[in-house]
Amino acid sequence: MAADRDGSVRLSQDEPAPTGEASSGPRTGAAGLVGLEARPGVPKPDPILVADGVTRRFGGLVAVEVEHLEVQRGAITALIGPNGAGKTTFFNLLTGFDKPNDGTWTFEGRSLGGVAAYKVARRGMVRTFQLTKALSRMTVLENMRLGATGQRGENFFRALVPGIWRGQQNSIDERAASLLQRFKLDAKSSDFAGSLSGGQRKLLEMARALMVEPTMVMLDEPMAGVNPALTQSLLGHVKDLREQGMTVLFVEHDMDMVRDISDWVVVMAQGRVVAEGPPDTVMADPAVIDAYLGSHHDAPLDLEQEQEQLAAAQSELDAATAEREKS
Ligand SMILES: Nc1ncnc2c1ncn2[C@@H]1O[C@H](COP(=O)(O)OP(=O)(O)O)[C@@H](O)[C@H]1O
Ligand SMILES: [Mg+2]
Repeated sequence: MAADRDGSVRLSQDEPAPTGEASSGPRTGAAGLVGLEARPGVPKPDPILVADGVTRRFGGLVAVEVEHLEVQRGAITALIGPNGAGKTTFFNLLTGFDKPNDGTWTFEGRSLGGVAAYKVARRGMVRTFQLTKALSRMTVLENMRLGATGQRGENFFRALVPGIWRGQQNSIDERAASLLQRFKLDAKSSDFAGSLSGGQRKLLEMARALMVEPTMVMLDEPMAGVNPALTQSLLGHVKDLREQGMTVLFVEHDMDMVRDISDWVVVMAQGRVVAEGPPDTVMADPAVIDAYLGSHHDAPLDLEQEQEQLAAAQSELDAATAEREKS
């Protein structure tokens, strides 16, 4: 294994990528990833999403700079990397919630650059958010109806224009009911979304995303804030998406989940794709772990760091106490 000059990591694998005989093996879904070379930008046999030169700057900061990335159709791909790596920004760009400074990308072979988020959803690519966007003052069912339009909260007045519903309402409500049942939220249908637990809101978001009958689902930290009692069911739901032929791209910090459900892992750091490959290969690689994953999570604090953190916590406490005494 060697690190390229640009910091990319090329992982060695037992089996070299088959060249010229690719048609002999299965090319679709997770099976199509077997034997692929583990290096950033490696072509996939059946890509549903292809990104080229996608760049997003915030002032002087280059938040995303993805040279080339292909996502295999019908597989579960995990996007991992430290906080601030650009994962959410990349999701925002691909799904039309933000605009890149540069770059192109195609979904199902058609360019998606400059396409508005709700149109991206109608083309079959939907996403959920790191912080759930379930609208707490609408009922669970109303959130689901909103999902059918591919709209997010800000545009919901437009989405609720009665004309949109005429003739569609019944089929939309039927689909909502069956999804709510699948996600065990049917009993909550007329409750306000705000009354749901964090995990139930994540489920609602996933259910809502499915209202447009997507071909690709992008999940930004589906496990964040989810009670352990619900994690197995969430995992099951993500695997179900693949069973039903959908493509899944998800961001997650929980490495157990990544190892458990992903067919392929892409590592981002400082806006770039620095490694990709099968989970066993990528996540066992010391260079990936040290440089991008483990070190800043698990390294024990030295005494000085510990005292700094304690001091910071104490001053926050003091400030909060002072605030309370004032009022
Ligand atoms: N709207 C914004 N304005 C300025 N900087 C931003 C904005 N959104 C994200 N960033 C910066 O871009 C970098 C990537 O952020 P993000 O995509 O949220 O990372 P991740 O999801 O991998 O944790 C971070 O340094 C973050 O502070
Ligand atoms: Mg993020």
